[in-house]
Amino acid sequence: MNKTVSFITDHFGKYNTSDIDSCLAVGGFTGLKRALGLTPADVIRTIADSGIQGRGGAAYSTGKKWQQAAAVPGEDKVVICNADEGEPCTFKDRALLENDPFRLIEGMAIAGYAVGAGHGYIYLREEYRHLKPRLEKAIEQARTCRWLGNHIQDSNFNFDITLYSGAGAYVCGEGSTLIESMEGKSGRPRIKPPYIKECGLFQKPTLVNNVETLAAAAAILEKGAEAFTAYGTEKSPGTKLISLAGNVKNPGAYEIPFGMTLREIIETIGGGLEEGRTLKLLQLGGASGSIAPAALLGTPYTYEDLNKAGLDVGSGGILVVDDRTSVIEFLKAIQDFFIHESCGKCTPCREGNRQIGRIIARYAEGAPRPDDLETARRFATIMCNCSFCGLGETAQSALLSAMRHFPEAFEADAFEAGVTGTKETIGERGLRV
Ligand SMILES: Cc1cc2nc3c(=O)[nH]c(=O)nc-3n(C[C@H](O)[C@H](O)[C@H](O)COP(=O)(O)O)c2cc1C
Ligand code: SF4
Repeated sequence: MNKTVSFITDHFGKYNTSDIDSCLAVGGFTGLKRALGLTPADVIRTIADSGIQGRGGAAYSTGKKWQQAAAVPGEDKVVICNADEGEPCTFKDRALLENDPFRLIEGMAIAGYAVGAGHGYIYLREEYRHLKPRLEKAIEQARTCRWLGNHIQDSNFNFDITLYSGAGAYVCGEGSTLIESMEGKSGRPRIKPPYIKECGLFQKPTLVNNVETLAAAAAILEKGAEAFTAYGTEKSPGTKLISLAGNVKNPGAYEIPFGMTLREIIETIGGGLEEGRTLKLLQLGGASGSIAPAALLGTPYTYEDLNKAGLDVGSGGILVVDDRTSVIEFLKAIQDFFIHESCGKCTPCREGNRQIGRIIARYAEGAPRPDDLETARRFATIMCNCSFCGLGETAQSALLSAMRHFPEAFEADAFEAGVTGTKETIGERGLRV
């Protein structure tokens, strides 16, 4: 039984994305129309009542964030849509951009109205450049039909959107780094305070929200907070877009109600694993997320239950890895990613990632040193506690959770004395753990 839902995704496939009239015919921009009939404070209350938490990874209450942004004094505020989506195995924002660009425009305008911003920017990851013409056309059409621009739908609200293309760095998904990059500086995070809500893009008060958060806000304004909270659990209300990837029969972006177990997601939505394969591990929330063994498949997909199990919703990525990949091979791929993406600004992340990379490489070659495990644990802990930004703080989630759930992968007797070689030779010798 397919348990997907369509609260945010209800317009997918129902209209021609290059024709705003076909979008309006299926109810596009109803949320913005409703919002314009409310006071900004009421719009924020609706979002707060929905209980939605930011979908970019940090899960901060969107209602609270908008309230704080609205409370910042100043006429010249900015809304930025974070469409950087650089987390490996995460592509749910792309699904929204591809299938319902007008929903995002609507959500950004609602956010602008609520917090008192007159301009919005979409920060689109470089790898999504093929979507630029589609988004540009959608913005242009929204302007022509007066869903953007001055006096939107004869109201006193003015709001326009500019599309900005990133240059392909993962760290630029972090809010302050994204702003640095938009200002033409190198992609490195800013020290806080001042917080970007007060002093963000070009020193203006700035609200940064994820694509899904903004699209959900439009759907919530259209259908009401109660329609959203009809899904999910008390602490994780609503629906979530997930990117189901890896060794499942039906990988893809899906909208699900919070509360399904991981097993249900993989089996009923993902179609299960290939015949004859068994689950080695899951990784939740992208490369910066923890990994989990099959024993945790009964965990409900909610913020609270995943948290109790040491996991996180994060970016909404769910990566399924079967028995063909060893834990060490997997960790090596993750580590290579972080070595490449560390911006180098702070020592714990820059040096910690490189040193841990060397240790994992020794494990992958079947020749770890006796103190490697403890050294890696120590470096990983320092990185979590002392890194300058979220990249370094979360880069070792996979390693630390592997030490917890797959201790056998690091045991010396998993490696024949003197065994060295590539991951393929290790696999042939049956040393995969
Ligand atoms: C290294 C790093 C990368 C990030 N990448 C993204 C991203 O690609 N998209 C995103 O929305 N948030 C990303 N975030 C989170 C943002 O900093 C920010 O919390 C988010 O855009 C806020 O939107 P939300 O409140 O709607 O979740 C990233 C954070 C870090 C530390
Ligand atoms: S943790 Fe430090 S080195 Fe790593 S990306 Fe952030 S600022 Fe750069």
